[in-house]
Amino acid sequence: MASAIYPGSFDPLTNGHIDVINRCATVFDKVIVAVAGNIKKTSLFTVEERMEMIREAMAGRTGIEVDAFDGLLVEYAKSKKAGAILRGLRAVSDFDYEFQMANMNRKLEPDVVTFFVMTGEGHFYVSSQTVKEVVALGGSVDGLVPPGVSRRLRERFSRKGK
Ligand code: PNS
Repeated sequence: MASAIYPGSFDPLTNGHIDVINRCATVFDKVIVAVAGNIKKTSLFTVEERMEMIREAMAGRTGIEVDAFDGLLVEYAKSKKAGAILRGLRAVSDFDYEFQMANMNRKLEPDVVTFFVMTGEGHFYVSSQTVKEVVALGGSVDGLVPPGVSRRLRERFSRKGK
């Protein structure tokens, strides 16, 4: 059974992430969407909230597991017996960071292979960062994130504004 890890901050999940998950789920038997707990970035949502939003968006889907990890990604991949790491690429600007990360992971664990998936053409401009900014400034991100994410973003920023 071929399992792949799709790691990320997912703060929050966007329809761009879902597009990557959907396409990879047609290739791998199991896609483990893994929320990173120990990243340096300050996050808007807790790991549990991020996992809940992913679970909700993926409800009823087979072959998708939602999990969280701390520590090195390649160690986590080995612990899950996954030989593949999946990353979405939106634009050339993503490449530098992804290239560094993929090569570092390969140095750490040559048996775990990173696969890049081009994000669907409707999602090139969508990132967790931009959707947070739009909602914080009162705009709508409907259609760019799952409905549950859109609702939680509105709730979070209306509370912050008070
Ligand atoms: O969604 P993001 O923030 O681009 O995801 C980055 C993530 C979580 C995949 C990356 O920071 C990561 O793999 N963190 C785990 C720590 C690790 O293994 N670092 C070594 C590779 S550079």
